[in-house]
Amino acid sequence: MGIDWSAGRYEATGEMLLPVSELVVAMSEPLAGRTVVDVGCGTGNAALLAAARGAVVTGVDPAPRLLEVARQRAADRGLEIDFVTGEAAGIPLPDHSADVVFSVFAVIFAPDPGAAIAELVRVTTQDGTIRLTSWPPEGPLVVINKVVGQFMAEAMGEQPAGANHPKPLGWHDRDELRAAFAPYGFEVEVERRSLTFTAPSPEAFLATSSEHPMAVGASQALSTLPNSAELEAELAARLLAATVELNEDPQAFAYTNDYVVVTARRG
Ligand SMILES: C[S@@+](CC[C@H](N)C(=O)[O-])C[C@H]1O[C@@H](n2cnc3c(N)ncnc32)[C@H](O)[C@@H]1O
Repeated sequence: MGIDWSAGRYEATGEMLLPVSELVVAMSEPLAGRTVVDVGCGTGNAALLAAARGAVVTGVDPAPRLLEVARQRAADRGLEIDFVTGEAAGIPLPDHSADVVFSVFAVIFAPDPGAAIAELVRVTTQDGTIRLTSWPPEGPLVVINKVVGQFMAEAMGEQPAGANHPKPLGWHDRDELRAAFAPYGFEVEVERRSLTFTAPSPEAFLATSSEHPMAVGASQALSTLPNSAELEAELAARLLAATVELNEDPQAFAYTNDYVVVTARRG
């Protein structure tokens, strides 16, 4: 089942990911007067930053609640941004209408990566740029996702996620991305960066993470089982153990995860 991104409270995670939008927006300067679409804009991180630099911005996301949060954030800053419902495989914009297409940890969730890439390409102007970010298949986030994935599979009596699914596109992988974009005449560059997540303690980090839509989805699934309270407690204990082990800061909490910035342009 897909993730309901309107569930829970994604806002805190959005704040932690803000430095990534700051980087991709800075990499895309000058933006004044240019048309920008932020695909999977969530609470509007990249969209707001681009609009503050004078771009004409559209934010697109499938989650209505996140679009509402984004609209409010734009209004609070006096920024005019068009936030519309849509998804990567169906971007509600005309052909060749965006000079810069951002997708910060968003298009990677598209169920059909090929259809999503076709849409990113379709809306990009002839000399425009697509800039997206993705996670590599190693690092603390993968460790934590595995803990949850394995626990959920055991609890629900299912195969671990991915076991029965076709391999999705490696959104971090230069060769796979080059092959996916090449039919459209696009060239792809991949740069590796890192992001440090911090909190006052591992417990505080987990409390914030428990509001993430994925965590809320897992909790809702467990709540359908007869021994749900025990299962929730067991999952919390396993997550705390893993988080403590990954902690880089003995005085508080920090962990660092690499990510990749993918830039695609017509060759
Ligand atoms: C990790 S959040 C990133 C949000 C925002 N870009 C940021 O940096 O905070 C993932 C976002 O992707 C959106 N999303 C999920 N599936 C999508 C799809 N198929 N196409 C476009 N966006 C999608 C979610 O609604 C959510 O807002």
